[in-house]
Amino acid sequence: MDLKIDITKTGISKEEIAKYSGDIENAMEKLWSEKEEMTGWVKLPMQIDQEELEKILNTAIAIQEQCEEMIVIGIGGSYLGTRAAIHALVGFDEVYGTGIPSSLYPAVKFAGNTMSAVYLKKLLEDIRTKEVSLCVISKSGTTIEPSIAFAVLKEALINKYGKEKAANRIYAITDAAKGVLREEVECEGYESFVVPDDIGGRYSVLSPVGLLPMAVAGIDIKTMLAGAEAMATSPSWDFDAADYAAVRYALLQSGKDIEIFEYYEPQLEFFAEWIKQLFGESEGKDGKGLYPDSLRFSSDLHSMGQFLQEGHQIFFETVLNIEKPSKDIIIPESAGELLAGKSINQVNKAAMEGVMSAHEEAGIPMVKIDIPELDAFYFGQMIYFFETTCAITSYLMGVNPFNQPGVEQYKREMKKRLTEL
Ligand code: PA5
Repeated sequence: MDLKIDITKTGISKEEIAKYSGDIENAMEKLWSEKEEMTGWVKLPMQIDQEELEKILNTAIAIQEQCEEMIVIGIGGSYLGTRAAIHALVGFDEVYGTGIPSSLYPAVKFAGNTMSAVYLKKLLEDIRTKEVSLCVISKSGTTIEPSIAFAVLKEALINKYGKEKAANRIYAITDAAKGVLREEVECEGYESFVVPDDIGGRYSVLSPVGLLPMAVAGIDIKTMLAGAEAMATSPSWDFDAADYAAVRYALLQSGKDIEIFEYYEPQLEFFAEWIKQLFGESEGKDGKGLYPDSLRFSSDLHSMGQFLQEGHQIFFETVLNIEKPSKDIIIPESAGELLAGKSINQVNKAAMEGVMSAHEEAGIPMVKIDIPELDAFYFGQMIYFFETTCAITSYLMGVNPFNQPGVEQYKREMKKRLTEL
């Protein structure tokens, strides 16, 4: 069984979708042609270098034996996919939002995605009290947030273990030849992996960028790649990503400027963050794009539910539905007649169906994506499905899905101010 997408509640007819079929065909051909820049992710699940995959798995075992905690340093595309996977598949904790250690695998924590000294101080304390390794990920090797975190944490590591032993606890994933991080790798002899040249940050989760830290956390990365491959080689070559892309574009044309991703399992919190970055950075340029947002239900029904039902109707909803959550609990008698004896998943499902029916009555367009189970295989499918949808919709909008000139601009402006300090 694969991911299933239901677009029957979007108000977009089959005829309207068919209008885009020529453009979509062109988009798919472009993506698979191997002639388009930055499309290395398209064939990655089928063409991943097996030798490199083995090196990733062996390095992951070495890290697991070496430390109780690995700190992954990176931001944006060099971090969100990994965090999404670890949060969804390994465990989540409400304070740090990071992987919980099990008896077999180290905890994975994240740094370099904010400039919070308060948070870095906590990680320094971890280095003082635990066996820690660092995995620094930056394609450019020059991004400010990870540079700061790496400098601070590396210094603490050197102070604790000495320069040589610390170097054996540092793993770098960066460009093959360019950037200061690559220079440092060459100079200090860190174990390293390459961010492929033809894959941009937000499309890189199935490259060493995501695979190494996920493997350290105990995620079955071969199965995840198999899930992505199953999607990529599905008998219908557009595996419904094309329909979803057409619907998104048609809804944008009809005045829906915002797509809200809604999920009923908090395990999807960082997957929603990953989707937001993927769509936001790929589509949001030249005054175009759908603004991606996310809501966690049922919590956010008690804050944003009113707005959705009766507020300014500038949005449509995309529901991420996990059909079979991995755990369930039967509600005890004391919860009262309506709830007692039912399972929490049954009640959660009733909430989803109730919300969808109320929103349908209000005329809100809704896409529903059914995910059979939240495991490595379907996670691979989800990644590949959204990456393809995103690239197709960007082409329909007439923007380049693979650059981010606006991000570069703010980085330049920030650096100007830093040199003036
Ligand atoms: O998707 C992207 O390209 C960006 O989000 C980058 O991943 C992010 O800015 C981090 O860049 P780098 O990996 O060069 O540190």
